[in-house]
Amino acid sequence: MCGIVGYVGKKQAAGILLDGLRKLEYRGYDSAGIAVRNGAENAQVVKTSGKLQALIEKTENGRNICGTCGIGHTRWATHGVPSVANAHPHVSGNCAGTGNGPVESSVVGVHNGIIENYAELKAKLMSKGYSFYSETDTEVLVKLVDYYYNKYRIGPIDAINRTMVRARGSYALALMFTDYPNQIYAARKDSPLIIGKGDGESFLASDVPAILKHTRRVYYIQNHQSARIEADSITFFDLNGDEISLPEATIEWDSQSAERGGYEHFMLKEIHEQGMAVRNTFASMVRNQAIHLEECGLTQNVLNGISHIDVVACGSAWHVGVTSQYVIESLTDIPVRVELASEFRYRNIPMNKGTFVIVISQSGETADTLAALRKAKESGVPVLAVVNVVGSSIAREADYVLYTMAGPEISVATTKAYSAQLMAMDLFAIQLSYSRGFITEEKYKYYIEEASRLPQKIEQILKNKEKLQWFSSRISSQTSMFFIGRGLDYSICLEGSLKMKEISYIHSEAYAAGELKHGTISLIEDGTVVVGVMTESSVLEKTFSNMIECKARGARLIALTSEEHPVSDDGEVDFQISVPASDEIFLPSLAVIPLQLLSYYTSVNRGLDVDKPRNLAKSVTVE
Ligand code: G6P
Repeated sequence: MCGIVGYVGKKQAAGILLDGLRKLEYRGYDSAGIAVRNGAENAQVVKTSGKLQALIEKTENGRNICGTCGIGHTRWATHGVPSVANAHPHVSGNCAGTGNGPVESSVVGVHNGIIENYAELKAKLMSKGYSFYSETDTEVLVKLVDYYYNKYRIGPIDAINRTMVRARGSYALALMFTDYPNQIYAARKDSPLIIGKGDGESFLASDVPAILKHTRRVYYIQNHQSARIEADSITFFDLNGDEISLPEATIEWDSQSAERGGYEHFMLKEIHEQGMAVRNTFASMVRNQAIHLEECGLTQNVLNGISHIDVVACGSAWHVGVTSQYVIESLTDIPVRVELASEFRYRNIPMNKGTFVIVISQSGETADTLAALRKAKESGVPVLAVVNVVGSSIAREADYVLYTMAGPEISVATTKAYSAQLMAMDLFAIQLSYSRGFITEEKYKYYIEEASRLPQKIEQILKNKEKLQWFSSRISSQTSMFFIGRGLDYSICLEGSLKMKEISYIHSEAYAAGELKHGTISLIEDGTVVVGVMTESSVLEKTFSNMIECKARGARLIALTSEEHPVSDDGEVDFQISVPASDEIFLPSLAVIPLQLLSYYTSVNRGLDVDKPRNLAKSVTVE
């Protein structure tokens, strides 16, 4: 995780770097720092612990640092506690811990990723006379570059290449060398990094939102490649140090979408953008009442070859996988297994001819999901990626890509990307089912029609959010909550519960309703809130009975149903929420909206930082 930025041009760099870091704060926010050079002068390094705001205040929003070339970093701690000493940028010299002020080091750098063999490299450097002021792997990396740079006098690119050969792990690295003013050097392996070309200025960043308001022209630097970035030119190199050319790409995202646009939090804004995210995803896959998968290479032949599907993902994307398992298995006779990427990558999973792997990822950079994709590819099975970020590692490495059209998602807790993923997976399931002859053309058209109505129904739910806002004020002091449901409803419970715990810090568990009696019910006590998700009519009564069992033990009940099948209002339930009727395979797309709002308002009521919950980061590029 962590976010890195860089700027070189004619403008003052510090303000641009801080603004870029603000857009990347979702990637990590336990400390931050910038290094800025004014021409050939030494770099000024300023670092603070805590959120970016501390750095903004310390630098008077960048006004008290002069220079037109610089790099910056917002950190999610891996090696070493969050502190000023461990904050980036790191320098090749000794900087007495705080690292604030001008530094005389030959190399100064920022890094996103993890260096796995840092201990071994550190020992080697110590034997060569280096000493260390921080606990980070990044300081080791910067000093290793410095070591090669000074030992061989070979120039920045060769020093970086030698470092890349020695360092194991993942990195997006941005460096400045004292001998090379007005230049930034960058290198990458398995951590995201884009390089932006403006008019007489150049940028680098971990993610698009950081540079979107400056330029749309970008280069996606690949693994083991490096770059020399100057105001008027960007030059790329391979691991041999030979110059290479990379294609320029254009970012299509609207720059407003990376701004809060009047909403108090990105999460609330993104919750409200869900109608659009789902609509755009639908429109990208459906034309003339037909789903077009062949455009991403999923031809009839490919679909015919599928005999079994593994869906692999992390976090909320994994919850989408759980929902799609129910949907695909209800529309076809193709067995689906849903795996956590962090488990899949280390387990012996039989993958045979006919196995088809689907990885789901908003960022396209999640380390475990990327590793799972590579494992599947090594086994020779085809991989479809459902991804939001164009040009991301997962999108580049998969055989087939279905892009979700959610636009940039900034809040750590995913909402609109999740909804767009549900839509993409629903449409995939419908097409698979139809093309394999499991449903009639009439049914196929019916499902597409039902899917097309979801955006408007989502917007309708959002219009009635006051009731949820009110109710959330009544549960804000809870210490424990349970979300129970069966089938598709259980998959929504997983997401509702995760949303609640990650942003409100209320302990919360999702349980398949029928499992409650096997242990968990012992945790129900007076006042515990139990949310029953009951949109599936065939199991509604069963889940409702489980809720009543909880009520008998003192629980307060929230029922989430469809308008078509509400639970009888005879006082058993404390609060009932209904979502518009739809074919039941699509109800997860609607039922999740009130649960997102409930979590959002609960977090706000508890006075928490909704967009940046403690200990989390949006894009998890470490194991
Ligand atoms: C983090 C985010 C989640 C996300 C998960 C997977 O934990 O906070 O919202 O679902 O990573 O991320 P991905 O980018 O692969 O969808």
